[in-house]
Amino acid sequence: MRIPLLDLKAQHAAIRAEVEAAVKAVFDDQQFVLGATVERFEEEMRAYTGAAHAIGVASGSDALLLALLALEIGPQDAVVTTPFTFFATAGSIVRAGARLLFGDIDPATFNLAPESVAAVLRDAAREARRVVLMPVHLYGRLAPMSALSLLAAEHGAAIVEDAAQAIGARAATERGSRMAGTFGLFGALSFFPSKNLGAAGDAGMVLCEEEEMAHRVRLLRTHGSLRRYVHDRVGVNSRLDALQAAVLSVKLKHLETWNRARRERAAAYERRLRDAGLDRQGVVLPELAGEEHVFHQFVIRVERRDQLREALAEAGVETQVYYPVPLHRQPCFADLGFRDGDFPQAERVCRECLALPIFPELSDDQIDYVVETIAAFHRAR
Ligand SMILES: Cc1ncc(COP(=O)(O)O)c(C=O)c1O
Repeated sequence: MRIPLLDLKAQHAAIRAEVEAAVKAVFDDQQFVLGATVERFEEEMRAYTGAAHAIGVASGSDALLLALLALEIGPQDAVVTTPFTFFATAGSIVRAGARLLFGDIDPATFNLAPESVAAVLRDAAREARRVVLMPVHLYGRLAPMSALSLLAAEHGAAIVEDAAQAIGARAATERGSRMAGTFGLFGALSFFPSKNLGAAGDAGMVLCEEEEMAHRVRLLRTHGSLRRYVHDRVGVNSRLDALQAAVLSVKLKHLETWNRARRERAAAYERRLRDAGLDRQGVVLPELAGEEHVFHQFVIRVERRDQLREALAEAGVETQVYYPVPLHRQPCFADLGFRDGDFPQAERVCRECLALPIFPELSDDQIDYVVETIAAFHRAR
């Protein structure tokens, strides 16, 4: 049996007619960049997430950068994030010119550990002009936002959430149910095709709680200009295009169903892996975490990760390692002074994590096959 990590063809087959009609409407309209189709999608996203403002941009990476530029974060400022995430999180901080700082993670959740963040924020608040906290909801699981929000408030730090992988994840709070990307002042979403809500190319969104900040992001995404050929700031070209917005509008209607299916697939994995006794043989399973998790990835931890990955590949099961190198050890950050051992939990998880196939259409038989292959690997040791 061949099982891909993600099967976008199965998804497209189910919505082909809707997508084709939406794309045709954009060609009929001939308005390709920003415009009514983009505005409609922004409004749909505002309603879906409960954010005060939703601004379509060219990618999730740009969404992070534009949030920092809107805050006028620069060389005298520090941004604290996790070393265990996709590169773009840290890249946006360095591109904005700010000092890049890390806290360590909790290996059970793969997200920032508040105890570790507390110490980093305290030092940063003493040394930097302003401090931003950039938590990542990795693999689709909310970071511990109540603890992190308290810490940020204590140290006067604004929060920019990297919600690229977590669209639709939510938690009950004192202020009602809140979605990933709406806990902080800003939230960044990615619609990269493999994301839970994926475009037909690059696309992203800034969610924002304040009118003035939203205005700045709108300005910055169009070269600092909202009046033709008058530039109030130096911005970038990062506009959402109408074809992407049209495709995303169609897919947004299915997102809750797809996220529910992902949670069910995760629960099925968990049940079968436990039934096979693998949790007692060194396979660490991700916590299910209810609606706080939308399972963009289903990631286990195992000591002999690379050997297991090979055994799965031989059996036709595609897996992936997100991420093999912690960001503090990336060559491009070598001059920032980080060393091996600085963030031991993140380093360990880089050695042990393995993403198994997960997508809404993944069948019970496919899950059985993956689990049986993992069980056979452990029996053979
Ligand atoms: C955690 C995280 N942050 C940021 C990004 C950047 O998003 P994009 O690829 O849309 O630029 C991604 C996705 O690729 C991501 O996974």
